[in-house]
Amino acid sequence: MFKVLVLGSAAGGGLPQWNCACENCRTARAQPGDPDFGRVKPRSQSSLAVTADGRRWVLLNVSPDVRQQIQDRPQLHPDAGTGPRHTPIAAAILTNADVDHSAGLLVLRESQPFRLYATQRVQGVLQANAIFNVLNPDFVPREAMALNIPFAVRDGAGEPLGLTVEPFAVPGKVALWLEQEEAGPDFGSVAEDTIALKVTHDASGKSFFYLPGLAEATAEFCDRIRGADLVFADGTTWTNDEMQARKLGWKTAARMGHLPMSGENGTIAALAPLGIGRKVFIHINNSNPVLMENSPERQTAEQEGWTIAEDGLEVSL
Ligand code: MLT
Ligand code: MN
Ligand code: ZN
Repeated sequence: MFKVLVLGSAAGGGLPQWNCACENCRTARAQPGDPDFGRVKPRSQSSLAVTADGRRWVLLNVSPDVRQQIQDRPQLHPDAGTGPRHTPIAAAILTNADVDHSAGLLVLRESQPFRLYATQRVQGVLQANAIFNVLNPDFVPREAMALNIPFAVRDGAGEPLGLTVEPFAVPGKVALWLEQEEAGPDFGSVAEDTIALKVTHDASGKSFFYLPGLAEATAEFCDRIRGADLVFADGTTWTNDEMQARKLGWKTAARMGHLPMSGENGTIAALAPLGIGRKVFIHINNSNPVLMENSPERQTAEQEGWTIAEDGLEVSL
């Protein structure tokens, strides 16, 4: 068995976002009986879970919504048969230090063993923030991942989980809360700030790519994912300026380190010629028109062969 579960498909803030009254967020608040109900499905913040055996799961990013995500997915409930305290979550891997990808670690306290992987850079950020010491180091070993070196993912006790992960840098930006204005246009970003993961199932050799942040589809990046069975790609925005156009903020997608879906150089166009088996957009911002069922943008994305992820989507390889 090689299974990926979408725990959270929205970008930072989720859908609806607590302080947002945009059309998507208003529609996502509709209740049963309301004519708008179901036109925009609520989504929690960005995270996947993957398993090689159906029993032990690896979280790819840990969102602030992880408590509810576990509650919503029986696969992640504790098994009473193994004693009073248990979790199927055996490891977690971070792709950056964004709030939507790391703050959920604070929820996973309580002296529960699992292994935590991130680049040295991101491990340094966690180390520098004493609040993450709620993850008792006696139970939660933290391991630095080196770029471009595949490794066997292991649980807290060191048992391999049947998955091999290769982390690699992609164009992106340091987490918003770590930006250094004085460092110039890249805000002090380094390669280890934004990574993608290639996850391989040891038993079958099948693999998928996970890239919740991608600022540019460079030739090197496209070569890496060419012919992949499955890609979960950054679906933050539809256009570069949609936050401005919808009066939700001044930042462009480029300023936030994200490549829009549409347009000549967008993700849909860039990945179209790469012969990818299945393409799924994740990390979708609440400003994105594809979130509205049957919107023209949604129809275009689907016609181009993309799935717009929802929480709970399962993909088996
Ligand atoms: C992003 O992906 O751009 C960040 O999650 C933004 C944020 O921290 O809200
Ligand atoms: Mn994010
Ligand atoms: Zn909104």
